[in-house]
Amino acid sequence: MLSRPATLILHQDQKVGEVDPRLFGSFIEHLGRAVYGGIYEPGHPQADADGFRQDVIDLVKELNVPVVRYPGGNFVSGYNWEDGIGPKTARPRRLDLAWQTTETNQVGVDEFSAWARKAGAGVMMAVNLGTRGPDAARNLVEYANHPGGSYWSDLRRANGTADPHGIKLWCLGNEMDGPWQIGAKTADEYGRTACETAKVMKWVDPTIELVACGSSSRAMSTFPSWESTVLDHTYEHVDYLSLHTYYGNRDGDTPNFLARSLDMDQFIRTVIAIADTVKAKKRSKKTINLSFDEWNVWFHSNNADKEIKPWMVAPPLLEDHYTFEDALVVGSMLITLLKHADRVKIACLAQLVNVIAPIMTIQGGGSWRQTIFYPFLHASRFGRGKAFNVVVQSPTYPNAEFGEVPYLDAVATQDEERGTVTLFALNRSMDSTLALDGMLGDFAGYRVLDHITMTHPDLKATNSFDHPETVLPQTGGDAHLDGNHLTANLPPLSWNVIRLATQA
Ligand code: AHR
Repeated sequence: MLSRPATLILHQDQKVGEVDPRLFGSFIEHLGRAVYGGIYEPGHPQADADGFRQDVIDLVKELNVPVVRYPGGNFVSGYNWEDGIGPKTARPRRLDLAWQTTETNQVGVDEFSAWARKAGAGVMMAVNLGTRGPDAARNLVEYANHPGGSYWSDLRRANGTADPHGIKLWCLGNEMDGPWQIGAKTADEYGRTACETAKVMKWVDPTIELVACGSSSRAMSTFPSWESTVLDHTYEHVDYLSLHTYYGNRDGDTPNFLARSLDMDQFIRTVIAIADTVKAKKRSKKTINLSFDEWNVWFHSNNADKEIKPWMVAPPLLEDHYTFEDALVVGSMLITLLKHADRVKIACLAQLVNVIAPIMTIQGGGSWRQTIFYPFLHASRFGRGKAFNVVVQSPTYPNAEFGEVPYLDAVATQDEERGTVTLFALNRSMDSTLALDGMLGDFAGYRVLDHITMTHPDLKATNSFDHPETVLPQTGGDAHLDGNHLTANLPPLSWNVIRLATQA
């Protein structure tokens, strides 16, 4: 086995910032089997009194997801939120044009908020700025957050929820730059609508935070002028700007696929630059932070989705079966988000259950963890506290798009409350172990708690209900700490989590 040296320096001076727990958010859309047959399946042996699957709630809790974006996605741009309240038998069945399915509206804002509470998460609610606008949005804020004594808040109470849902985080539409979006808009059209919607939503509840739509991806031809125009209109009325990105390995070019996090990094840097340019132009004291509220690998299910007949209820759409290789890419995307923890305050792995998801269910049957479940679990569990850049010297490989790509990708976090430091490291090399030689500078008094690795001889290995343990993390890594000198061998194509704890 080939081995190449790589060095790493970690120092308190390299602090990026506090990690907002919402960096480990996720997303449930009314799409495919995410809601119906995913989180909600009345009659399932594990369903609770409200029809929510307890096995799914347990897996979401295991991931420690602090916030879940809802109800879309593309779905929200044609959604009438009022269809999803009141007696279930009276709720309309509607054609959802975004995904060409039939929406039964058996789950709406009241049910989803109740589910999120059970799963230990907050709700990040998106409003429809495709077919609707400020009026429907302000009414929804009133319904969800006003205590009572007004039309919409009293209706919520009459519908069985006495206390306000207290939804603090709201998205002003979804991907409004995309031609596929119901009611897509130019940047000026969207910017004006978003500004007026933001005003009335905050007049109803001044404590809420708002996310304006950035571009649907870095590849959009309107990127990044979209960001600039939208912020020109909305700067003083919103708190975050959104970013979305999905990667895939369609042509089987693994080295290129493993380098996609460099694209994500560039995307984040550009949006920060634009947001700060608008800040300077406006001479504003306020800083706009970033909400990376859709990110993941998505490509495996593209062809299967073309075979699905229109207008079905909860068909199996976007059901990617993730490989080991995908888990490595998800790991590198998590490293990238942590490297920007000073400005990326919210991020949502898209999505959470069945639809491009870490958690899968079988109708009437069990549930299981996809490969990508694990890097997300590690980052969400151990990546809390403060994030630190690590200075890395690593061998590289050439890539037409990104130039020289380092084999080693790494970031560190420190959780002072728990007395832990965690190093997240990816080895992108297909054939070489990285012999890591690290200096922990002024991080003194730690010992190695464990060195988790995820490796697999087959890049295309997947988990399934019948074989849920094909790709699993192991705690058999050889990280060793001598004073502040860290050594570890990072196997070829591996995700590594090296956890250090103070000697207590
Ligand atoms: O997450 C799947 C879809 O991807 C979302 O509905 C949309 O916002 C994005 O294009």
